[in-house]
Amino acid sequence: MVLAPMVGLSHCATRMAMQEFLPKAVKSLWPTEMLSSRRLPYQSEEQTPEIFFRDRDRGLVPQLLGNEESFIRDSIKKLEDWGAEAIDINMGCPVKHVLQHNYGVALMGDGAYAKSVTEMAVRSTSRPVSVKLRAGLQSNFDFLLQFAKGLEEAGASWVTLHPRTAEQKRRGSADWSQIRRLKEQLKIPVVGNGDVQCKEDIHAMFSSTKCDRVMMGRALLAKPWLVGFGVEEAEKNFPQNPSEEAQLYGRFLLRALDFAEEFYVESWTLRKMKFLIYHSSPWLDYGHTLYANTCKAADTKQMRWQIEEFFKWNPLMRDRTDLRR
Ligand SMILES: Cc1cc2nc3c(=O)[nH]c(=O)nc-3n(C[C@H](O)[C@H](O)[C@H](O)COP(=O)(O)O)c2cc1C
Repeated sequence: MVLAPMVGLSHCATRMAMQEFLPKAVKSLWPTEMLSSRRLPYQSEEQTPEIFFRDRDRGLVPQLLGNEESFIRDSIKKLEDWGAEAIDINMGCPVKHVLQHNYGVALMGDGAYAKSVTEMAVRSTSRPVSVKLRAGLQSNFDFLLQFAKGLEEAGASWVTLHPRTAEQKRRGSADWSQIRRLKEQLKIPVVGNGDVQCKEDIHAMFSSTKCDRVMMGRALLAKPWLVGFGVEEAEKNFPQNPSEEAQLYGRFLLRALDFAEEFYVESWTLRKMKFLIYHSSPWLDYGHTLYANTCKAADTKQMRWQIEEFFKWNPLMRDRTDLRR
């Protein structure tokens, strides 16, 4: 299992809190938030909490947005100095300001250029380079296959597919059959992503697509123990019912808050915790109340109190929710 890169969510405090669900000897891959190769060479950890990184974060695979060799090279050098074990290139982000720079999913509009961007990254590092992509600008599997084969030829070590088109953003449903078809045709590993919400979905994704790893985003923030899926020692501690699941989610939020308080200034901690709760609470009965209550918190002490009080009500966790956010 791997956590998906998510702006505002996959920062060091969330990662560290999630790592506690894995035995120390077990290694996963950990994304960063999406980092701009134009800005990264000039950013410092002190001024930019998004790039704050701690040693226990082993297996770090930072995600880079880029399309120009000098920026990509300088960014990768910096990420290697921080201990990055691989580099992921973002070819999936459909947000307007990213498209204006012609990176993110815009790169899927030009297969030859996307291939050359991958080559730039591969030339800049001896570590593996992966690419996270979408189904494309339109739903056309032949195009997607040729595009991904170009990345493979360019030296990508693996690809992650979130099978939605750029236009879909996060609407509609992810078409897992594209993951299966890509896996059948590529030589490099394929990581499957999209709409995995619970243990049964992880099984279903693995068995229906034969993908090499499952990447989970939003639901893993609500059920962080699932990062240990398939690891016997971790699975022994999985919660046994919806009430235990909810309590464990509550403890995860408090651990994320501990780490955020340690690493970041209070205003940033509050903002990021609210964002985390916004995206993870929909699996919880009355999750909207947890979100509304924590939004009232004026400082981290109140935030902690609101979380602790809410979970005294013994809420329940659901397997699935409507993923429209
Ligand atoms: C708030 C948010 C921010 C995201 N930011 C990124 C990002 O920076 N880079 C990226 O490749 N995908 C990003 N994604 C997409 C996720 O990585 C993932 O592909 C998507 O949420 C589908 O997986 P899921 O259904 O398991 O959440 C983001 C998703 C969310 C919800």
